[in-house]
Amino acid sequence: MSSNQAVGIFDSGLGGISVLREMCRVLPQENFIYYGDSANAPYGDKTNEAILALSERITDYLLSRNTKAIVIACNTATSAAAASLRARHPEIPILGIEPAIKPAAMHRASEDGRYLVMATNATLHLQKFLKLEKRFEDKAEFISLVCPGLADLIETGDLDSPEIKTYLREKLSPFIGKVDGIVLGCTHYPFVKKQIREVMGSVEFFDGAHGTAMQLLRRLRETGSLREGGVPGTVEFHSSIDTPEEIALYKRFFTMKL
Ligand code: DGL
Repeated sequence: MSSNQAVGIFDSGLGGISVLREMCRVLPQENFIYYGDSANAPYGDKTNEAILALSERITDYLLSRNTKAIVIACNTATSAAAASLRARHPEIPILGIEPAIKPAAMHRASEDGRYLVMATNATLHLQKFLKLEKRFEDKAEFISLVCPGLADLIETGDLDSPEIKTYLREKLSPFIGKVDGIVLGCTHYPFVKKQIREVMGSVEFFDGAHGTAMQLLRRLRETGSLREGGVPGTVEFHSSIDTPEEIALYKRFFTMKL
């Protein structure tokens, strides 16, 4: 493995760009190849088998680009596909992301916190999440809030649309003043933090991007493939909606102020 090889990173669409942003902050010298499967988004309402098949196809593409590690920047695809992708490709680090239950539970270790966990249907119903929630159930209370359709609204790129505002108001209003924080358990959702605050007021957010970026740093170090030397890395964007407009949208999300 050479340090100049790129890191492959994928999501069902542009959500994983929230993870890519954090990776570029933590590892600015790395080269990244981002793949968003926007033509097949959302993954959250698909079966396990369908999510696995799509994730395998993208992983094969990223490996054909000679990547040294793969990051599944999608909570849904991590739950459905990480274990089998790792079994198929033991030669390469394959990292996933999961809802930030642990950071939320540890945040107020001395008190009983109540946290809302916003995520897709698939993420919240798969064993991986249920086990994670069980591990921390004596530390904090977690309320699962399935958000079908929210990732699709974010995929349109119009984050201040009336549809997004109405969606969030209807979903979140029952919890105003009743939770200590929100776990953003889908990588699309950090892009609507401002719109969530407009409903909930000032609220603490937790997401898995930083933990995954730190994990990538450790794994690259362990495998001796960390790119060092202070030369800034490059970022390439690819999408299954292969149009200049879609790539321009990805780039806008990559640089947008949050
Ligand atoms: N971004 C994906 C996640 O983190 C899900 C969006 C979708 O349903 O495709 O779970």
